[in-house]
Amino acid sequence: MRITMIGAGYVGLVSGACFADFGHHVTCVDKDAGRIAALRRGEIPIFEPGLADLVATNMAQERLSFSTTPDGIDEADAVFIAVGTPSRRGDGHADLSYIYSAVREIAPLLSPTAVVVTKSTVPVGTGDEIERILRDARPEADMHVVSNPEFLREGAAIYDFKHPDRIVIGSDNEAAREVMAEVYRPLYLNAAPMLNVSRRTAELIKYAANAFLATKITFINEIADLCERTGADVNDVARGMGLDNRIGGKFLHAGPGFGGSCFPKDATALLKTAHDHGVPLRIVETVAAVNDQRKRAMARKVVTALDGSIRGKTVAVLGLSFKPNTDDMRDSPSIPLITALHDLGAVVRGYDPAAMEAAKAQLPDVIYCGSAYEAAEGAEAVVIATEWEQFRALDLDRLRSVMAAPVIVDLRNIYRAEEMKRANFRYLAVGRPTAERQVESRLPRRRKIAAANGKAVGGKVAEPAV
Ligand SMILES: NC(=O)c1ccc[n+]([C@@H]2O[C@H](COP(=O)([O-])OP(=O)(O)OC[C@H]3O[C@@H](n4cnc5c(N)ncnc54)[C@H](O)[C@@H]3O)[C@@H](O)[C@H]2O)c1
Repeated sequence: MRITMIGAGYVGLVSGACFADFGHHVTCVDKDAGRIAALRRGEIPIFEPGLADLVATNMAQERLSFSTTPDGIDEADAVFIAVGTPSRRGDGHADLSYIYSAVREIAPLLSPTAVVVTKSTVPVGTGDEIERILRDARPEADMHVVSNPEFLREGAAIYDFKHPDRIVIGSDNEAAREVMAEVYRPLYLNAAPMLNVSRRTAELIKYAANAFLATKITFINEIADLCERTGADVNDVARGMGLDNRIGGKFLHAGPGFGGSCFPKDATALLKTAHDHGVPLRIVETVAAVNDQRKRAMARKVVTALDGSIRGKTVAVLGLSFKPNTDDMRDSPSIPLITALHDLGAVVRGYDPAAMEAAKAQLPDVIYCGSAYEAAEGAEAVVIATEWEQFRALDLDRLRSVMAAPVIVDLRNIYRAEEMKRANFRYLAVGRPTAERQVESRLPRRRKIAAANGKAVGGKVAEPAV
């Protein structure tokens, strides 16, 4: 089959390369001339494991090409739209201007029976608007608009694309469904469930799924807060919950709050859609609010670890991208964390295996370093903000030897308290008992209450509000 992919970002590039790998002929089109020139030279503009090889193989076999213009789009069996749908400035609705301008640009060039497929995440009803634009531009044509939301995760995008839990096809048109079945035939043969639903249903499935996952994360984060006050261990609570098949263990990892290119903007966009339809989604509203507060509040943990004040102190932050194996900085929890640390007067040294170039634009005041150990030099605390594999097995003796004080704040719970104690680190994690907690549980009751309220205990200064 011939496929045109409009937009060669995370989703467009991965989807295009995977479709080519299935044996289809794919042209990825992007307005960003620099990106297309780089791709033609074999340079991959994003960090995604396995993508460089996949692109190179399929370019060499002439199934994958890149262009700034939609060449040959009139011969495409399916035209996918994978442009961005960021939050609209000012009101938080999904900004659909990239979608609509892409549709207006391609409308005159499409075959009269084209199947136009929205892969971007778009609010329910967007497909109807796309159809209207196409009909106005080409009243003589019989085109079909399909919704085919994408569920891949950055960092594991190729695996996810090739092993989806389900493929959602939103269309009422039989011919369009047949084209989609052909596009996904290799996955269908692998028994990936294909869900044929209405277009509006498909559009809503994507938002509902993301909002639910964001809810799971926020739920366990609040349970983690309760664990910290009660001496329970959130990792064990999550395991105890997750082994129940009705719940499942995924997305039950306590941490600094969800971020990334999708969950925050999609939760907000869903709320806007719901309000427009007079259906307030109170659970999602709360999830968004709780998560917003949490990210900046993580700086408070660092303050606690440094006995109440971080002004003038050096803090090393390990991991800047919103999750491991990506260089994506969009809405990364490291941004509000580091901004709060700066606001409180700290000097921040940072290291990330892939995202430092992307981070520089948003966090210009960070001192960027070449390794975790270089970042830790002279630091009074190391904060693990993203659980990159290489941070899971740090040489703790080496780390301690370069630091000004042996303090680790582990916002991803990747170490064990005993291990840190053995290595002579003061260790704070999320929702898990620490050495401090054990000491605190032996305090007289009056002092325990003061400690729980963040008041001065035993001469310690109360932490400032963040
Ligand atoms: N990133 C993810 O993990 C992920 C996962 C699932 C769904 N999505 C959704 O997929 C969509 C794309 O996300 P992304 O992360 O790939 O975005 P992105 O910003 O990485 O890529 C979008 C690309 O589209 C290009 N573009 C914009 N207008 C264009 C036009 N008129 N013609 C050609 N190219 C154009 C941009 O130059 C950019 O390269 C969004 O709706 C997003 O919510 C993203």
